Amino acid sequence: MTIKSTRRNFIRKSLAASVTMPVFNMALFNEVEAASKKLKGKSASDVASDETFWYQVQKAYTVSPHFINLENGYFSLVSDEVLEAQLKNVQMINEQPSMYMRTRQWGDRANIKRQLADFGGVSPDEIALLRNTTEALNIVIQGIEMNAGDEAIVSDQDYGSMLEAFEMRAKRFGTVVKKIRLPLHPKSDEEVVAAFEAAITPKTKVIHVTHMINLSGQILPVRKIADMAHSKGIEVISDSAHAFGHIPYKIPDLDCDYMGTSLHKWLGCPLGLGMLYVKKEKIKDLWPLMGDVNLPEDDIRKLEHIGTHPCSADLAIANAIKFHNMIGSERKAARLHYLKSYWLKKAQNIPNIIINTPAEAERSCGIGNVGVKGISPSKLADILYDKYKVFTVAINHSAIKGVRVTPHLYTTTHELDIFVKALEEIGENM
Ligand SMILES: Cc1ncc(COP(=O)(O)O)c(C=O)c1O
Repeated sequence: MTIKSTRRNFIRKSLAASVTMPVFNMALFNEVEAASKKLKGKSASDVASDETFWYQVQKAYTVSPHFINLENGYFSLVSDEVLEAQLKNVQMINEQPSMYMRTRQWGDRANIKRQLADFGGVSPDEIALLRNTTEALNIVIQGIEMNAGDEAIVSDQDYGSMLEAFEMRAKRFGTVVKKIRLPLHPKSDEEVVAAFEAAITPKTKVIHVTHMINLSGQILPVRKIADMAHSKGIEVISDSAHAFGHIPYKIPDLDCDYMGTSLHKWLGCPLGLGMLYVKKEKIKDLWPLMGDVNLPEDDIRKLEHIGTHPCSADLAIANAIKFHNMIGSERKAARLHYLKSYWLKKAQNIPNIIINTPAEAERSCGIGNVGVKGISPSKLADILYDKYKVFTVAINHSAIKGVRVTPHLYTTTHELDIFVKALEEIGENM
């Protein structure tokens, strides 16, 4: 044996000793499939409270036992099967490095994009596979044709990075950003559409809409806003970071011109994955963020010029879609809605509680926001974690002050009971 090979073996052994590979129980994953099949014929709302079924789903995830995670809006835990697939891909690509990249990478990517496009109800020629919503929507916000003086309409509850992208473009190229105030508890879709419509001028080129507002959980009527905007020749960008894989819809239902999402949020894909949809006829006029002059202007892949990146995660998208479909979009949304309503209905009767999520059932799904009079959002988040081990995130926005609460499929009603009890103790002691 050469010194080199002895050294290699030594390194292998030390690595094997230091890395603890997670142990997965595929049987549990298969149990979800079996349990799901048994529900045939039952409505999504009936299944939403079927704790026997959701117990099977919960078991398909490995959740930290050290705290109650009610902050799944940042990104969600992947199921064990998705994680296992991702780890296998890491290993496979590590063994084959540039051989994989040069021979298989593009075919695999095209296959994944086909599955993703199918899930979204669009053509693979209309989607770019990217790293997150921030990247997807920066491509649009910075790449659509706008002249100095042209106006973009945004809202006060849009995500900070998108507002910054519009501000940066304005600073650099003299475009104009008009910010509207959105109602927290709208009485109708028309009220929301009217808020955008009122800001339109002959200079308006684009409206940016947050599909599901991350701060409060409010769902905006993107289709109605798009219909109104299109009737005036204005384009629409949908920030669907939280909507895709959370509420059931196909992208054409929105009739938006551009849609960005983070696949690592509600679709349950590995961290670092996003998608941009661009309506076919709009692709040719959209400038890439990363230089690309070789691909035809109407080829969506011109927007994917992101260089070498960990495509091991991309491959596990197929597993995430499979897991999602095994449960079903309608059932998943109904369960998330049920979990949100479970805690919120109890919380709203507690003294000093402020609910920052629209009251009407169809205006939110799994995301909710609650505040306590006299306690700052960060103090409330700290008390919840320090005293009750309930992890949420403080939202200190000019219009919304509270903690955002985002349960997921692996959240149990028992965990929500602990959260509600904590709110009772906090609210009653104010
Ligand atoms: C509404 C909204 N848009 C965009 C983003 C950005 O997502 P990412 O950080 O995955 O790019 C977020 C993140 O939470 C969000 O809530």
